[in-house]
Amino acid sequence: MRLLVTGGAGFIGSNFVHQTVRERPEVQVTVLDALTYAGDEASLAPVADAVTLVQGDVADAELVDRLVADADVVVHFAAESHNDNSLTDPWPFVQTNVVGTYTLLEAVRRHGVRFHHISTDEVYGDLELDDPAKFTPETPYNPSSPYSSTKAASDLLVRAWVRSFGVQATISNCSNNYGPYQHVEKFIPRQITNVVDGVRPKLYGTGENVRDWIHVEDHNSAVWTIIERGRIGETYLIGADGEQNNKAVVELILELTGQPRDAYDLVSDRPGHDLRYAIDSSRLRTELGWEPRYPSFRDGLAATIEWYRANEAWWRPQKDATEAAYAKLGR
Ligand code: NAD
Ligand code: DAU
Repeated sequence: MRLLVTGGAGFIGSNFVHQTVRERPEVQVTVLDALTYAGDEASLAPVADAVTLVQGDVADAELVDRLVADADVVVHFAAESHNDNSLTDPWPFVQTNVVGTYTLLEAVRRHGVRFHHISTDEVYGDLELDDPAKFTPETPYNPSSPYSSTKAASDLLVRAWVRSFGVQATISNCSNNYGPYQHVEKFIPRQITNVVDGVRPKLYGTGENVRDWIHVEDHNSAVWTIIERGRIGETYLIGADGEQNNKAVVELILELTGQPRDAYDLVSDRPGHDLRYAIDSSRLRTELGWEPRYPSFRDGLAATIEWYRANEAWWRPQKDATEAAYAKLGR
């Protein structure tokens, strides 16, 4: 199989490439990545000999056409992915997430190539804290932020290209990922690296917002399950029943790093901050037989803390600029 992975130098994409090289050595992997601030060639260093990296934009129609023509399957991770950035400057989100996805869809349509679109649970908006409900594939789209609205737009493009043009595509909407190679702008790596630097973790608002955490290895094993066994045109929700409020996550990071559990600060809230996400992944489990295989959140978080401790050279170059941008927002 010749596999084109867009965004393969980012957090989830690079972990997907690592897992693919490790578990499916027969697959030929090409990565298309613009190497924005969020992409890092170093994230692919351990598999550099097994992978072809092409630096380029998913909205570059000529380049995309050439790469898709040589692929059997495209897995589309590339995106602007950070909500806080989308509130400061939404345009790159529209360009990459919407125009980039459109560009890929036109190419897979021309060349009859199988397409898997990586999306987010945030397309469904949010749930109340005391609501027993979870997101299902039938939940109406109701995105809150510029980021999530551009992801919702990209999902709808995929659905329309399946129905109108017969494109062979599937979609997955996953909850919050954690694990190695995640940019220090994101919640968990930001707080781990703050603790390493002797800075108190920062919780938005009251810290009561809930996210449904899944280890990145489990997200990626689910993506492979869908590529191999998913029904064309179908949407699969990926989650591992990992609901935690942000305060509990910070308290666990503090405990695992030997700090007092209350050594954090509450800072100003993110505008439009979604309250709670929760995934019902029963379609993926019952129809396709997928199960998460990663150990408990506590064990996964402890391993992630160790990874950031051992790989300071990977994250250190991004830390100061990231914190300077947050300081301007008062967060
Ligand atoms: P990330 O920001 O870490 O990585 C994004 C990658 O895309 C980077 O390597 C970047 O250089 C590349 N990229 C950005 N613009 C590009 C362009 N125009 N052309 C080519 N490459 C470009 O993001 P991530 O957290 O790894 O997320 C990957 C995908 O998974 C996204 O589609 C995101 O919406 C989705 N997702 C993320 C999560 C999560 O918790 N992080 C959860 C569910 C879904
Ligand atoms: O649900 C899937 C989504 O998860 C993905 O689609 C996004 O790409 C990914 O970034 C993530 O979005 P969130 O906005 O949930 O993730 P973030 O890491 O930015 O924040 C997680 C929670 O932590 C959120 O409630 C905001 C809060 N937070 C974040 C930061 C950076 C803090 O309390 N303090 C912080 O310093």
